[in-house]
Amino acid sequence: MDAGLEGIVVARTALSDVDGERGRLVVRGLDLEELAEKDFEDVAALLWGELVDRPVSGEELRVALGAARVAAFERIAPVLPVAARAGAVEGLKLCLSALGGAPGELGSLPEALVDPVRVTAAIPVAIAARTAIAQGREPVRPRPEEPHVADFLRMLRSAPAEPAEVAALQTYLVTVAEHGMNASTFTARVVASTRAGAPWAVLAAYCALVGPLHGGAPGPVLDMLDAIGTPDRADEWISAELAAGNRLMGFGHRLYRTRDPRADVLKQAVRQLRDAQVGRDSRLALAEHVERAALSALERHRPGRRLETNVEFYTAVLLDALGVERAAFTPVFAAGRVLGWCAHALEQARTGRLIRPASQYVGARARQLASRS
Ligand code: ACO
Repeated sequence: MDAGLEGIVVARTALSDVDGERGRLVVRGLDLEELAEKDFEDVAALLWGELVDRPVSGEELRVALGAARVAAFERIAPVLPVAARAGAVEGLKLCLSALGGAPGELGSLPEALVDPVRVTAAIPVAIAARTAIAQGREPVRPRPEEPHVADFLRMLRSAPAEPAEVAALQTYLVTVAEHGMNASTFTARVVASTRAGAPWAVLAAYCALVGPLHGGAPGPVLDMLDAIGTPDRADEWISAELAAGNRLMGFGHRLYRTRDPRADVLKQAVRQLRDAQVGRDSRLALAEHVERAALSALERHRPGRRLETNVEFYTAVLLDALGVERAAFTPVFAAGRVLGWCAHALEQARTGRLIRPASQYVGARARQLASRS
């Protein structure tokens, strides 16, 4: 038994392969670098298409997601005031719980994709509407004719975004869309194996995502950059953290023994934003310095353990440059990863069996309990 189920195969999947030794991520036969060039809707079609009874195109999903965003806006309206008071992470959980009922007009979409589309559409609508209310603005209605990511950023800001910003957010969302049998994806598959349906699988997966050892790290990454402040303070700050027994957020990974390939894709996206001179003044230069200092400190701290930069480090820098509030980083992560969660839920429902592992009892024996009474 391994307490973290490390190395234990729990499913056969055709969705993605994480090669932790070589630092390579393949999604449906595409290397991450190729995937990262694609539109959100095309990645949805890539991940979901082979799991339903007929092929679907990105264009078909663009139309369906637009209609489903409009439906979600109505559906979550009653819970928005509570969600706005609850904070970004909790707020999305409340909105996801409020989904249900009629999906609105989703055209002739294959039946199995109705729930994945509904829940995928709802996440950016919920994040944007909750943020607007929390900031004293009117929630912005979705525009069904807009591409999903452009509409997300427009609703979030109450204003259209620059194309370079939409491109950066899209790169982020598709880069994190799917990544093997991580904790939240496993959760999604467990729930889907009970035939509870995609919205339940996604809600449960989101609850697994929010922890700091999984998708909750990028906010703390930014806290770290703020605490360091200037490059000259990096070494001292990092040494003090490690000496205190704390983990450096944005470093280390269960699988990667080399650099997480997503880190480089996202770093490149931040560079492109900076070069296009849009977005907020980025912390890129400080981040690059802190990354170098952290890597050499971690090598001294755990020689041979190969603790490298993970996806969360440049996620934080990218989302910050796009003006996303740090409390919303994990919900925005979910807006991308939902594609993978739904794909796994579909795959599990099609090919899987009820997931029901065993446990090893190490408690008191019945005989001992009986002798006490
Ligand atoms: N900083 C300092 N030390 C670390 C770090 C880190 N970031 N990561 C691992 N270590 C140390 C651990 O303390 C452990 O030391 P120990 O054996 O003395 O206890 C050793 O390296 C081995 O680490 P594990 O805990 O076995 O690594 P595991 O595979 O369980 O954890 C994880 C991976 C959770 C990502 C870990 O590296 C970590 O906590 N990183 C910081 C949080 C973070 O960045 N989370 C986002 C992950 S990416 C994602 O899920 C989307």
